[in-house]
Amino acid sequence: MSGKLPWKVVWITGASTGIGREIALQLARAGVAVAASARSADKLSGLGAGIRAFPLDVTDPQAIRETAARIEREMGPIDLAIMAAGTYSPVDIDNFDPANFQHTMGTNYFGVVGCLSALLPLMLSRKSGHVAWVASVAGYRGLPKAAAYGPTKAALINLAECLKPELGLRGVSVSVINPGFIETPLTKQNDFPMPFLMQADEAARLTIAGLARGRFEIAYPWRFVAILKFARVLPYSLFFWLVGRTILKA
Ligand SMILES: NC(=O)c1ccc[n+]([C@@H]2O[C@H](COP(=O)([O-])OP(=O)(O)OC[C@H]3O[C@@H](n4cnc5c(N)ncnc54)[C@H](OP(=O)(O)O)[C@@H]3O)[C@@H](O)[C@H]2O)c1
Repeated sequence: MSGKLPWKVVWITGASTGIGREIALQLARAGVAVAASARSADKLSGLGAGIRAFPLDVTDPQAIRETAARIEREMGPIDLAIMAAGTYSPVDIDNFDPANFQHTMGTNYFGVVGCLSALLPLMLSRKSGHVAWVASVAGYRGLPKAAAYGPTKAALINLAECLKPELGLRGVSVSVINPGFIETPLTKQNDFPMPFLMQADEAARLTIAGLARGRFEIAYPWRFVAILKFARVLPYSLFFWLVGRTILKA
C-alpha cells in the first residue's frame, strides 16, 4: 500500500472471510488499528496482529450498538466503518421462498441500517467520520436468480445516495462499494462462468484506494462495471432481450 492512510481506527463487518477479511488484513499491514466483526469468532481471532475481534450478528441492532460503543471505549473513535457483511442465495422460481428474501434483506440491508444507527450519533457529534458499505453491481438492474439479493443491493445504493448530501454537510463522508464478481466463499456456489472474476485481494486494494481518495462510488472491475452501467440506461425492451440472449442462454 503506497502512502499513509487517513484513518487510525477502522471497523469492518463481514471481516471473517472474503472481501472484508482482505480489507482487514491490508489495513492492518498498513498500520491501521482494525476492529473486525462477523459471527464466526474463531475466524476473527486468527486474523493476526493489528486486528481485534468483535464478534457480532448484524441482524441484532442492540448487539450492534453495544459493539460500536465497546470498540470506541477500547480502541478510540471509529474513523471509518466498512460494512461488508452480506449473504446471497439464488432464487429458484419453482421454490419461491419468502424466508430467503427476509434473511437476505435482514442481513444485507438492515445490517447496514443497524450499524448506521449506532455510528451516526457518534460521528455527527464529532462532525467527522466516514461510513462505507458494500452493495454490488447487481444493484444496478434486476438480474435472473438475484430476486432476493439484487433488491437489497439496489436499496443500499439508493440509501447511500439519500444520505451522502446531508451527512456531508455535517462532516461525515459516505461511500458505496459496488463489486462485480469476486472470488470468495459467497461466489463459490455459482455454477456458471463468472465474467471478469477478480481476486479478493485486488478488490480490497481498490476499495482501500478509493476510500482513501474519498470517492463516493467505488466500483470494479471497470470493464464489467462499464457494461452494467450501459445496461442500466437501456430501454426495457432491449435490456430484457439481452438478458434472454446472454444470461438465460448461458
Ligand atoms: N463476492 C462477490 O462477487 C461480491 C460481489 C458484489 C458484492 N459482494 C458483497 O460483498 C460483501 C462481502 O461478500 P464476500 O463476497 O466477501 O462474501 P463472504 O466471503 O461470504 O463474506 C461475507 C461476510 O459476511 C459475514 N456475515 C454474514 N452474515 C452475517 C451476519 N448476520 N452478521 C455478521 N456478519 C455476517 C460473514 O461472516 P460470518 O459467516 O462469520 O458471520 C462473512 O464475513 C457482501 O455484502 C456481498 O454481498 C460480493
